[in-house]
Amino acid sequence: MKLIAGNSNRALAESMASYLGVSLAKARITRFSDMEIFVEIEENVRGEDVFVIQSTSYPANDNLMELLITIDALKRGSARRITAVIPYFGYARQDRKTGGRTPISAKLVANLITSAGADRVLTMELHAGQIQGFFDIPLDNLIVSPVFVPEIQKIFKGEELVLVSPDVGGVVRARAQAKLLNAELAIIDKRREEAGVSEVMNVIGKVDGKVCIMVDDIVDSGGTLCNAATALKEQGAKEVHAYVVHGVLSGKAVERISDSALETLVITDSIAATDEVRKSNRVKHLSVAPLMGEAIKRTSEERSISALFG
Ligand code: R5P
Repeated sequence: MKLIAGNSNRALAESMASYLGVSLAKARITRFSDMEIFVEIEENVRGEDVFVIQSTSYPANDNLMELLITIDALKRGSARRITAVIPYFGYARQDRKTGGRTPISAKLVANLITSAGADRVLTMELHAGQIQGFFDIPLDNLIVSPVFVPEIQKIFKGEELVLVSPDVGGVVRARAQAKLLNAELAIIDKRREEAGVSEVMNVIGKVDGKVCIMVDDIVDSGGTLCNAATALKEQGAKEVHAYVVHGVLSGKAVERISDSALETLVITDSIAATDEVRKSNRVKHLSVAPLMGEAIKRTSEERSISALFG
C-alpha cells in the first residue's frame, strides 16, 4: 500500500499514515510560474495499491486539480489500483439543479475524478447520500458516529440530551445519532413566510431544560447553526452545542460563532483548520484519522468497511 498526500491537509494525511504505521510516499506537487500544477511521484508505484489523500476544500478548484493531476500521474506510472481518499468532498452542495440552466457540479466533479483514473473513492459524510450514485466506480461513504458518539457520551454523561437537526435536510443524520445515544430528537424548521420577510425558525420537539446537541455535515458561514442555537435557547434549552463533520468556516464564521448562543462547536480535521479556527476557544477538534486510516487498511485488505459501523 502507498499513501500520497496532496497539499490540502497534510497533517491529516500524516496522522493517517501514522495510524497505519507507514510513511507518506515521496511526491512533489509544485507550481509553474503561471500557477499550473505539476506533480511528480518520486518513487515506484508500478503494481501498487495507492491511496491519494486530498480534501477538495478551500481553495476547492486548486485542490481538486491537484487531486486529478496526481491521479493521472499515478495512472501513467502503472499503479495497480488508485483510491481517491477525499475526507471532505467539495461541490457536494450543488447536487441538483436549483433552477433553469444551473449545473449539477457534484456530478461533474464525480465525472472528473473517474475520468482522471480513480478506481475507487473513500469519503466521509457526503452532503447527500445519493452523490454516491454520481460515481460509476465503488465509493465508500464513512459515517462519523464512531468519532462523535463516544465523545458526546463522555462529555455529557448524566445529562438529558436532545439531538437536533438544524434543518429538515439533516434529519436522517440527527436521528441516527439520537438512536445511538438513546436521546430525543428535535428538528428546526426554517420557513420564510413571505419574500423579503426574515425567516421564522420553528422548533419541532421538546428542548426545554435539556442540553441540545446539533449535528450537521457542514458549517460554512455558521448562519444555520447560530440561528438555530438562538431558536433553541428561546425555547428554553439549557445549553446548545454543535458537532459538525466538515468545518468549512468561511468568511466571518468564527466571529459569528463566538458571538452566538452556541457553547461549543466541535469539528473534525477533514478540512485543515485555519489559524483563526485553531485559536478560537469556542471551536474544539476531533480527528477522523483513525477512522479513515482503518477504512484504508480494510480497503487494502479487501475487508468489510460497513463492519466498522456495527
Ligand atoms: C445544508 O444543507 C448543510 O447541511 C449545512 O447546514 C449548511 O451548508 C451550513 O451552511 P452555513 O453554515 O453557511 O449556514
